[in-house]
Amino acid sequence: MAAGRALTALLATLLAASAQLVQRQASFTVSLRKVDNTTVMIKLRPGVPPSCRIYIKSVPRSELMIKPGENVTFTFTCSTPEKYFIMEIQKNIDCVSGPCPFGDVHLYPPGLPRLSRTYIWDVKASTKAGLELKFSSPWLRQIEPGGTCPDFISYNINSCIDKATVNIGTFCRNGSVSRVKLLGGVVMSLHLPWDSPLTTSGFNIANRASIKRLCIIESTLERESSITLMSPNYPLGFPEDELMTWQFVVPSSMRASVFFHNYSLSNCERKEERVEYYIPGSPSNPEVFKLSDSQPANIAGSFNMSLQGCDQDAQNPGILRLLFQVVVQHPQLDENVTHLVDLSKEWNMTVTIHFEGWPSRVPLMSEPICLICKDPRTCDRVLTLASGTVYRISFLCKDLSRLRVTAEKHISCVDLRWCQRRIYSLSVPKAIMQLPIRLHKFIWKLLAPDLINIEITSPSLKLQQHVPEQRCNTSYSYSIVSATPETELNVGVFCPGGSIEKIQLRNNITISLKTFGKGFINESNHQDLKMSFVPHIKDECIFTVSPNPKAKVYLQTPNWPYGLPPYVSISWYVTVPSKQTARLGFSKDRMGIACETGRAYVNIKEETLGAEETVRREDELLPDPRNMYHNFWVNVSNCKPVDKTQLTLQFWVTFADKQIDLGIILAVVAGAGVLVAIGLTVCCVKKKKKKTQNPMVGVYNSNVNTQMPGKKSLFTKGRQTNESHVYAVIDDAVVYGHLLKESNGSVGPEVDVYRPFDGPMGSLPPSPPPFSFRKDIKSSSNTEEEPPPLTDTDHDTYTFAHQKSEQLKDNGDANIKDKGDTSMPLLENKEQNGLAE
Ligand SMILES: *[C@@H]1O[C@H](CO)[C@@H](O)[C@H](O)[C@H]1NC(C)=O
Ligand SMILES: *[C@@H]1O[C@H](CO)[C@@H](O)[C@H](O)[C@H]1NC(C)=O
Ligand SMILES: *[C@@H]1O[C@H](CO)[C@@H](O)[C@H](O)[C@H]1NC(C)=O
Ligand SMILES: *[C@@H]1O[C@H](CO)[C@@H](O)[C@H](O)[C@H]1NC(C)=O
Ligand SMILES: *[C@@H]1O[C@H](CO)[C@@H](O)[C@H](O)[C@H]1NC(C)=O
Ligand SMILES: *[C@@H]1O[C@H](CO)[C@@H](O)[C@H](O)[C@H]1NC(C)=O
Ligand SMILES: *[C@@H]1O[C@H](CO)[C@@H](O)[C@H](O)[C@H]1NC(C)=O
Ligand SMILES: *[C@@H]1O[C@H](CO)[C@@H](O)[C@H](O)[C@H]1NC(C)=O
Ligand SMILES: *[C@@H]1O[C@H](CO)[C@@H](O)[C@H](O)[C@H]1NC(C)=O
Ligand SMILES: *[C@@H]1O[C@H](CO)[C@@H](O)[C@H](O)[C@H]1NC(C)=O
Ligand SMILES: *[C@@H]1O[C@H](CO)[C@@H](O)[C@H](O)[C@H]1NC(C)=O
Repeated sequence: MAAGRALTALLATLLAASAQLVQRQASFTVSLRKVDNTTVMIKLRPGVPPSCRIYIKSVPRSELMIKPGENVTFTFTCSTPEKYFIMEIQKNIDCVSGPCPFGDVHLYPPGLPRLSRTYIWDVKASTKAGLELKFSSPWLRQIEPGGTCPDFISYNINSCIDKATVNIGTFCRNGSVSRVKLLGGVVMSLHLPWDSPLTTSGFNIANRASIKRLCIIESTLERESSITLMSPNYPLGFPEDELMTWQFVVPSSMRASVFFHNYSLSNCERKEERVEYYIPGSPSNPEVFKLSDSQPANIAGSFNMSLQGCDQDAQNPGILRLLFQVVVQHPQLDENVTHLVDLSKEWNMTVTIHFEGWPSRVPLMSEPICLICKDPRTCDRVLTLASGTVYRISFLCKDLSRLRVTAEKHISCVDLRWCQRRIYSLSVPKAIMQLPIRLHKFIWKLLAPDLINIEITSPSLKLQQHVPEQRCNTSYSYSIVSATPETELNVGVFCPGGSIEKIQLRNNITISLKTFGKGFINESNHQDLKMSFVPHIKDECIFTVSPNPKAKVYLQTPNWPYGLPPYVSISWYVTVPSKQTARLGFSKDRMGIACETGRAYVNIKEETLGAEETVRREDELLPDPRNMYHNFWVNVSNCKPVDKTQLTLQFWVTFADKQIDLGIILAVVAGAGVLVAIGLTVCCVKKKKKKTQNPMVGVYNSNVNTQMPGKKSLFTKGRQTNESHVYAVIDDAVVYGHLLKESNGSVGPEVDVYRPFDGPMGSLPPSPPPFSFRKDIKSSSNTEEEPPPLTDTDHDTYTFAHQKSEQLKDNGDANIKDKGDTSMPLLENKEQNGLAE
């Protein structure tokens, strides 16, 4: 000791001489009794520079081993040895050749330096005897190997049989694993960080009768809780042909459910891998399950589960492993209440009952869970029911509002002869509505081969398009997406109570009914959406709109706000009651795009003999608000716009009785369209002016002459007949050139003629390459232009204002629009958090 001090003083002097100030270090004396059979090893932390040393007497060293019966005094040359050294304290316990020192296991010896340390108890025992490790409360929790514990204190249990070591598991403190019983020897280690205040090992060892298996792990679950356990060696393989048991001690007033989250099977040569349950009160103990089975749920009180391996194929053994969860809950009040779900008359439908956020959100293991049971013992967090069957289900769930129903139904048509005239109702079946579970989504997938199109009608309710100016506030809405194998077009979000009577669509359609709030239960009584298969249509979609004369109707192009895909055309047919006048206006003054290939048009035409047609090209102003006296068309066809410009178009329609002065009634939405007149407009101008014609015509008159030269010859072909057909020529050959191609199977002559005028002569007649959103995608691959795939379509771009209305009731209803905007993020968040798709 004195020598050590002298040395330290000397060292300090030396170091001071080299301008290093070193503190005088404490010394440690470790004395180990021979009978304890304990060895202490201090060694350098791997990967750390050896800039700190251990001095014993005057000898510096970087490692120190203190053997049983030794008494060693030492110092460190630095003040923070925990940065440089780690310690291993190993105690060998031999129960084979001598008596076993059972009882509480102590952290021996005292007086050790504060280093990160691992205590190892290496117990040698006969394989005929069982050893039991019993942990003191708060017990242990198993973690995956390599995981860390919150307090960095971890236990590792290894079983040694015939020199082979099996890792029973790695554990943290504070869990429900109360005992581990093993056969033969065990190597138990406890890792403590240098600053851990722990002074007891937290377990004792006892011997028991043989357990006749690799190990038994006992978990005591006293309260509502959940634990995760893994098979030995996880994620590596469970030893071949072994047997082990998990015992669960659960109060008889509680219910336990088992879920296998991760497992794999080995390749068995003989026997079968399986789990066996002993469930008190079960008439068929043991209950044997495959690992792939749905495991038992709602078990009352204690039970045990054994995992049995097999004789593996020596060439290709595979891996048997299992990670599972046991959840313990109070019995639920309505555990015995069954709900009849009669899907026997449904077809091509699946119904999934699931937790909120499924499938994107995985609930935390610690969360209270809701189980859906097909029978009292077969429960799971997610249950899928198929059409054609009658189910009796029950719920083990404190709060049913955490559950959701999602259903999907496929309606397909193979041959129009069979499906035409058939009207399919798109309504949520009663069997689903009767469940005490909120409907999250009902998805109809409408599938048809090419050349059969789809018509959606809502004869009594009619649909409103959800637009920023007119948000849906109903308890449900329909999102309509049109899809080809390559791409999707988000047609829009629609809700009942508007003016759209019919939507005709070209592609396979997905309609998703989404609900918002509880009102759907009531509103669902009047669901009124129908579909039928119809012959081929020209446009991507055609909307038939018959507005309520008192309403202002807003309509907008699909794929809002990202823009119409290139070359897609959309039409609206708006009916005008005979005693009324409609006023039509656009929400901005220009289409806002520049075309790279082809031209974009807006065509407006009343459906009456000799009606004028108003045509605007993308480089012209859109028409000013105008009066319409007959049913009319608004048709939009897109070009391929240059990068970063997207065609989005919104317009509105209002009505007035014919005798009333319109000017008083109508509000005009700001913005006026810019349109460049195309050659055709000349023809329109030439037409005899009707009394109803509005002054807009003058606007495109002025541009006409600049467009026309050189163009004439192009139009001669289709223009033999009267003036009212002029547009039809362009319509077919130019705007709808792709359709001509489609029906002929080859590109029509007009289209060929037009093509040279592309690009270089921007003001010349348009000639988009043959393309349609749908069917020409493949066939157009040999034309010069392949439209870029639609990306970025977000079906939930718009949020619903139904919460807003509640807020507003409280706030008084001033300033609805502003309030609506501020309430948007609320809903958006809610959607994202809770109902993420
Ligand atoms: C170890 O040495 C210290 C002092 O050097 C002494 O007090 C102690 O009794 C010794 N212990 C044993 C077990 O020899
Ligand atoms: C101490 O450990 C050694 C080595 O494992 C063993 O041979 C010896 O029997 C043990 N002594 C006692 C008392 O456990
Ligand atoms: C033990 O775990 C429970 C939940 O698992 C936690 O609430 C508690 O704080 C933990 N106790 C300690 C001492 O870590
Ligand atoms: C299940 O196993 C896979 C693959 O080994 C792993 O990625 C995943 O994290 C495991 N899941 C759990 C819950 O451990
Ligand atoms: C499993 O439980 C049954 C019935 O409670 C019991 O007889 C059996 O000994 C238990 N097995 C194990 C390994 O705990
Ligand atoms: C459900 O039924 C079982 C068996 O009939 C019964 O033991 C249990 O008490 C019932 N649970 C409730 C909450 O009524
Ligand atoms: C169900 O779907 C299949 C395949 O999608 C289809 O062949 C069958 O006609 C559908 N059944 C009914 C009744 O529509
Ligand atoms: C619609 O779906 C059917 C069946 O899956 C498929 O054969 C057809 O090609 C699809 N049509 C389009 C335009 O994607
Ligand atoms: C549904 O309608 C019933 C009676 O018509 C009414 O009492 C109930 O409050 C309504 N529920 C909702 C959520 O609107
Ligand atoms: C608009 O499109 C519809 C449907 O394709 C068509 O019947 C109508 O003639 C078109 N009208 C105009 C003015 O282009
Ligand atoms: C929903 O909006 C319409 C107008 O768009 C309005 O007449 C109706 O009162 C609103 N309903 C609710 C519940 O806010």
